[in-house]
Amino acid sequence: MSTPDRLVIFDTTMRDGEQSPGASMTREEKVRIGKALEKMRVDVIEAGFAAASPGDFASIEAVAAAVRESTVCSLARAVDNDIERAAASLAKAERARIHTFIATSPIHMQYKLRMQPDQVVEQAVYAVKKARSFVEDVEFSCEDAGRSDMDFLCRIIEAAINAGARTINIPDTVGYAIPEEFGYKIKTLLERIPNADKAIFSVHCHNDLGLAVANSLAAVANGARQVECTINGLGERAGNAALEEIVMGTRTRSDLFNIETNIDTTHIVPTSRLVSTVTGFPVQPNKAIVGANAFAHESGIHQDGVLKHRETYEIMKAEDVGWGANKMVMGKHSGRAAFRSRLEELGVSFETDAALNEAFARFKDLADKKHEIFDEDLQALVSETVADIAPDVFKLVSLSSQSATGETPVAELVVSKDGTEHKVRGEGSGPVDAALKAIEQVAESGASLQLYSVNAITQGTDSQGEVTVRLEKGGRIVNGNGADTDIVVASAKAYIHALNMLHSNVVRQHPQNDGV
Ligand code: KIV
Ligand code: ZN
Repeated sequence: MSTPDRLVIFDTTMRDGEQSPGASMTREEKVRIGKALEKMRVDVIEAGFAAASPGDFASIEAVAAAVRESTVCSLARAVDNDIERAAASLAKAERARIHTFIATSPIHMQYKLRMQPDQVVEQAVYAVKKARSFVEDVEFSCEDAGRSDMDFLCRIIEAAINAGARTINIPDTVGYAIPEEFGYKIKTLLERIPNADKAIFSVHCHNDLGLAVANSLAAVANGARQVECTINGLGERAGNAALEEIVMGTRTRSDLFNIETNIDTTHIVPTSRLVSTVTGFPVQPNKAIVGANAFAHESGIHQDGVLKHRETYEIMKAEDVGWGANKMVMGKHSGRAAFRSRLEELGVSFETDAALNEAFARFKDLADKKHEIFDEDLQALVSETVADIAPDVFKLVSLSSQSATGETPVAELVVSKDGTEHKVRGEGSGPVDAALKAIEQVAESGASLQLYSVNAITQGTDSQGEVTVRLEKGGRIVNGNGADTDIVVASAKAYIHALNMLHSNVVRQHPQNDGV
């Protein structure tokens, strides 16, 4: 076999992933995820959409300053302001990429952009040239390429490459494509565009039909050499292609794909956990590669086979993707310096001594209840400590709950609202229900509960439970999360976090709204 080609892994967890309803990330969280992706040796990290809001801009700036090895990318519609904001957000990056895009499908050009195809080509060329005036590394995307006309794609891509784009991205924006068709599309573009050899062809597939990974792999088999993907497949609507599946798919079937990525796969599971903790989106147990059951064999026949010869039923090694890597990192005797240094390795730094002290006090509380503390515990702990985009309107002061067989569960809480403490008592079908009903007596939010989920952060019955609560009010969806060894307390923290998120006034412009 000839020397393998390089497949560029472009992670968009912090941009497209953040477009999942409720998946907002704070600046500190983005820096942490950025550091984890860098450690995993992701080639390009799309850190956000700079023109979306001042908060998004600041997050990209912070990621660009913190990440040194990977390229940091900022998204921009094909308009002056977006490109200028993207360039400014990347000022501190060691390696910077501007990713500019415009829609190319008839339906988007006619109804969204209200532009003629000639104008779209002109705008694309203008945008690429403008982006090139700031950085060498410019990517151009044909939004809704999955439904665009082949002749038009060839025309606009040739023009974009001539204008200086070094990566051409073919998104299946609405997740409409079928693998054979999408692979053929990439092959045809590469064959028909005269200057195609001057750019890397990339794909960005959405999962509306559950085919994002299959479509991406079909594209790779037909010559695409960059895949845009997200950790855990997070992303707009049904999500994007999952990074872990793309990387392990090409690696496990290297007999079919003569391709290599730069990824250190042992970081996959820890990074998946981090993204899940930060966003509050749990990973389903049967999720490929990173789900809790991905390497668990329930059937006796399978267990027997694996014990006799692992490869009878396993095509990958759990340890190659980072399972079992969660080692006990700290305990109740660990000091503040060790605590700070471990968190720095996880990409968390504290702006003030007071913030460090507060987190350390919470760590000591946790270590009293749970004698082995893992990285996952530390991540959950700091998620609650670092500055959030949500104001602290509500705070949990104390909670006690009671449940006994045959009796109505009761919870008594002290909740502070705008600094005033309220003592409340709730009854419910269980202690969690009772606690959340009691909080509502103070909050009177009128929000509807869309999701409640509990996950064990580590193994063992002394694990912290991590709770996610999703609330909807007036069309706005927010997530709240909380962790504690007591799941009633974790649930109350998550509910209060979600209520505070509802009070935040962060308004973010969506990149795919008409900006031209
Ligand atoms: O899905 C899409 O088309 C996108 C582009 C902005 C690349 O996310
Ligand atoms: Zn997308």
